[in-house]
Amino acid sequence: MLVFDKKAELTEYLTQQRQTGKLIGFVPTMGALHQGHLSLIEASLSQTDLTVCSIFVNPTQFNNPQDLEKYPRTLEKDRELLEKAGCQVLFCPGQQEMYPNVSYTNFSFGLLETVMEGYFRPGHFHGVGLVVSKLFHIVQPNLAFFGQKDLQQCRIIEQLAKDLFFNVSVVVVPTMREADGLAMSSRNVRLQPGERKEAAILYKVLQESANRLLAGEGVQEIKKAAERTLTNTTTGVRLEYFCIADGGTLQPVKDVQQHKQLALCVAGYVGEVRLIDNLLLEL
Ligand code: PAJ
Repeated sequence: MLVFDKKAELTEYLTQQRQTGKLIGFVPTMGALHQGHLSLIEASLSQTDLTVCSIFVNPTQFNNPQDLEKYPRTLEKDRELLEKAGCQVLFCPGQQEMYPNVSYTNFSFGLLETVMEGYFRPGHFHGVGLVVSKLFHIVQPNLAFFGQKDLQQCRIIEQLAKDLFFNVSVVVVPTMREADGLAMSSRNVRLQPGERKEAAILYKVLQESANRLLAGEGVQEIKKAAERTLTNTTTGVRLEYFCIADGGTLQPVKDVQQHKQLALCVAGYVGEVRLIDNLLLEL
């Protein structure tokens, strides 16, 4: 695996590779890699000729300074995992390389970010939009791979690519889960043992709610029941939201009949750790 920390060197290398007709796949990450990230690498390896993974803990997308500080950084282990997985290129720039100057450009994504993560983490998607735009310019991938786990991020990147004419296909990869259904996340390691058990409730409630929707129960009823279950747990999930939304626009759904795809989305704190998850339902 080739490792670059300078964007000019990576760009030069990728220009040569592109000239030989190689299709370039890109997997942006913030490191602390787990099986979920590796499933994106696998998807890229199977659909492209050259896979580039980036590891950069992007400060502009953290609206909580403590979250940024506590974000796990495991570069050596990440490097080994990527090597083993067969990833061909790793880009791990430093802060100065990605933000050599104070940024003045501001991203906002309209209705796509007035809900869910955008609502609860103001400024988060500005930071994601900024860093992913920078990375897309550096890597110029043909395909870029994102996890469904961060569904709102996927929709925002799809819109960003369209609005700014990035010549990239955005591929959404299904969420990888632990045996009890908990979505894999770099933050899971911060859960205490009791909290770790409790955390499985998020996916359980998503599944139960999906079944109830398919059985024809009303949206409001299901939402209320889900909120009740999630706030009644013994260690206590500090629920931020449970939403039944349109799978494309992410706007709240009133009448299920009007939609082709639904997204059931949940976010909450288990102990100190903020977790999110979602399920997509085709109708
Ligand atoms: P990070 O949280 O490291 O996630 C990198 C990619 O891995 C994202 O596309 C995310 O959706 C995906 N991912 C995380 N957990 C997953 C799981 N359990 N199954 C499948 N995919 C999973 O998302 C970011 O970093 C950043 O916002 C980034 C896009 C890199 C911009 O800084």
